[in-house]
Amino acid sequence: MSDIPADIAELKSRAKVSYDQMEHVWPPGDPWSEHTKANIDAFVRRVVPAGNLTIFNAGCGGNDYGLPPSAITANMDISFRQCRTLPRALVGDVETIPFPDNAFDVTICVGAVINYVRAEVAIPELIRVTRPGGLTLVDFESSFSAEIMFSRNWAKPTSVIERLYIDHMDKTHLYSLAHVRALFERSDSRLIESQGYHTATALWERVFRKALIPRAAFAIDPFTSRVPGFRALASSILVACRKA
Ligand SMILES: C[S@@+](CC[C@H](N)C(=O)[O-])C[C@H]1O[C@@H](n2cnc3c(N)ncnc32)[C@H](O)[C@@H]1O
Repeated sequence: MSDIPADIAELKSRAKVSYDQMEHVWPPGDPWSEHTKANIDAFVRRVVPAGNLTIFNAGCGGNDYGLPPSAITANMDISFRQCRTLPRALVGDVETIPFPDNAFDVTICVGAVINYVRAEVAIPELIRVTRPGGLTLVDFESSFSAEIMFSRNWAKPTSVIERLYIDHMDKTHLYSLAHVRALFERSDSRLIESQGYHTATALWERVFRKALIPRAAFAIDPFTSRVPGFRALASSILVACRKA
């Protein structure tokens, strides 16, 4: 990490320390985590084609998304602890992936992994290891999130925020969908699908701040995340891109 800017090295080292201390990245029983995991897992299972594919799970966080146990060829995480529960796992950084070009049919990097790094470095890396015609799935926290609406960080191509996440202060980048799409296009990949979620929950957090998010907000989130106008305020966005 010595040849990278000090602020990025700090962001990464904080992520590694935090995730090394976490038993579960999505603690069971925490409604926000369960909602996030359910959206991610469903998207991955729907978008990843069936068949005998080579799949790379970058920033795995101990999650196989409910894919068949043998489906994932390689799991990687910056945190050793988050590699322990999955087979064929290695410690590594999505900014410098230790695999050759065009190695995988599908590269999955979901659960806001790219928010902990420089998207302009990580996205070309994720595409580099994906074969031509293959898919890259990414999930990121959006700078258009209702949670920070009208704040100085809102609606920027990239911004940095620090806030409470589960039990610690988390520092991450936020990105706009347009910025992420442009980074994919710069690496000859085309966005073929995108899906926002955490819209109703983000609005609740904007208005009521520390008040517990009610079950109803999670229940209506799949609907508000499809309504034009609301849709743009999702705090998380899943995308699938095809490499030319
Ligand atoms: C919120 S978890 C998501 C885990 C999993 N992908 C999922 O969606 O359920 C974020 C994961 O990203 C990992 N991570 C953070 N920075 C990383 C980096 N530079 N390279 C690889 N993994 C990283 C963390 O250790 C953590 O396991």
